[in-house]
Amino acid sequence: MTGNPLTELTLEQLRTRTSRKWRTYSSDVLPLWIAEMDVDLAPPIVDALTAALAQGDTGYPAGEDYADAYRGFAKRTWGWDVDLAATASMPDVMRGMTALLGLVTAPGDALVITTPVYPPFFAFARNAGRRVVEAPLHPDGRVNLTSLEIAFQNETRDGRRAALLLSNPHNPTGTVHTAAELTAVAGLANQYSVRVISDEIHAPLVLPGATFTPYLTVPGGQTGFSLVSASKGWNLSGIKAALAVAGTTAIDDLTRLPQETRLGASHLGNIAHAAAFRHGSEWLDALLTGLDQNRHLLRELISEQLSEISYRDPEATFLAWLDCSSLLARLQGETPGAFFIREARVALNDGTGFGGSGHGFVRLNYATNPSIIQTAIERLAAAIRRL
Ligand SMILES: Cc1ncc(COP(=O)(O)O)c(C=O)c1O
Repeated sequence: MTGNPLTELTLEQLRTRTSRKWRTYSSDVLPLWIAEMDVDLAPPIVDALTAALAQGDTGYPAGEDYADAYRGFAKRTWGWDVDLAATASMPDVMRGMTALLGLVTAPGDALVITTPVYPPFFAFARNAGRRVVEAPLHPDGRVNLTSLEIAFQNETRDGRRAALLLSNPHNPTGTVHTAAELTAVAGLANQYSVRVISDEIHAPLVLPGATFTPYLTVPGGQTGFSLVSASKGWNLSGIKAALAVAGTTAIDDLTRLPQETRLGASHLGNIAHAAAFRHGSEWLDALLTGLDQNRHLLRELISEQLSEISYRDPEATFLAWLDCSSLLARLQGETPGAFFIREARVALNDGTGFGGSGHGFVRLNYATNPSIIQTAIERLAAAIRRL
């Protein structure tokens, strides 16, 4: 039986880490921001990496082992048959997004994103010369088909091409798009010849009560692409790799992928991710149980101590999207994220960078020891009392 990975490490142990989460702020700040988890690696990943290092197996990547491991995971978890011929190795999800965007749009074309959303979507699209067009979600975090249709209509009007980048499940709201929602999105996208890229990096992190649907499995989804990775589910951001998967009628597009993209993953990344998807399910199940407990703890603590903050329980991910807009008048122009760092010594992601109606929100990462969540909420509540 695997224990709860989220209770294994103390704050003192975590503070010895050198990754961005732990080294951006001074040591009196509790970091509940960037999407790193405070867990040890799943033992099968440690075993696979240790074996590779012991053999000096640190050359260039070869073969399709990552894709094969993902195929097994997708079949066992969602009953989805992934065709190996429809997959392509990617250095990471965001570089995969840029590469796919290059296949289906040209500089100056639009990338539609459903905001509020993961901030790098903006920067990567703009650096690739695409125009970012926001199709805001409904206030309850669900996909807004009206805002999507307006964006598709406007952006394809002069015969231009456009793409839609979905976050499925959605970062930061933790929404898991339903099969019916995705089918409706695919219908609209196909009506306007908009190509869909579904970023499914958070798909292994669907919590009890919700059901994940891979975009490529819904009717009409076969013209799209998905981007998948073990990076969020098993905390492998420091050992990057990813896969692009094409829908059945999009496979030919992959032949136009630049070589440098296909060859960009690291061999150790592929080894680690393949071990996660092939042998990491027991550890993942224990993690999901721990995340579910943390989700309930957060709900309890916020309702007891932070009546000013409202939010919906995330259905997936380890991120909670907290509406702090009732504080704005008292903050006198300061963002909630800046206020909480200054006054509570708790680092959260301020909502402003997420687009849409993100101003007034913060994103809290609850993939940490429950005792850290407890202290953080106490500090936030004390800071608000001093306002
Ligand atoms: C929705 C989403 N996409 C992509 C990424 C980054 O993935 P990668 O490091 O593989 O580029 C993240 C990281 O948190 C994310 O939340």
